[in-house]
Amino acid sequence: MEKLTEPKVIEIGKIADPRGNLSVIEGGRTIPFAIGRVFYLYDVPADSSRGGHAHYTDCQFMIAVSGSFDVVLDNGAEQRRYTLNRPYRGLFIPPGFWRTMDNFSAGSVCMVITDNPYDEADYIRDYGRFREHAASSPASFGEK
Ligand code: TYD
Repeated sequence: MEKLTEPKVIEIGKIADPRGNLSVIEGGRTIPFAIGRVFYLYDVPADSSRGGHAHYTDCQFMIAVSGSFDVVLDNGAEQRRYTLNRPYRGLFIPPGFWRTMDNFSAGSVCMVITDNPYDEADYIRDYGRFREHAASSPASFGEK
């Protein structure tokens, strides 16, 4: 699968079945990286905000496997808001984007698939530091 450098909403697809639907994510096929880690956020209070950081190298794929929430991406020059509210659709986030998740619906689950194991050294947690990084290595949203 072609490497992606810009954020993208990816259709995961659905195996529809009257017994219950099924969706599949395969590393390198559904998403443009090999799967190194999966984590998920749940029991998020309605007024809570998560994220608030960027990554130097980590690629992520984020899915509302239940309920809905918004993801705000920021490349240091522009912000775009994405609403995730379907279990068969996700947002690919390349490195270099500050991300914040908010507007969590009751009972929502935010599943995040990444290419690497957890490494605190890959985080940019200071917004000023992020702006410096974005100025020297700008990340692009691509066409609107
Ligand atoms: P953080 O990534 O800041 O949460 P979010 O971006 O979803 O708001 O992580 C919160 C805490 O959990 C932080 O202390 C690091 C820890 N953590 C791990 O130990 N492993 C992981 O894979 C993740 C994502 C977080």
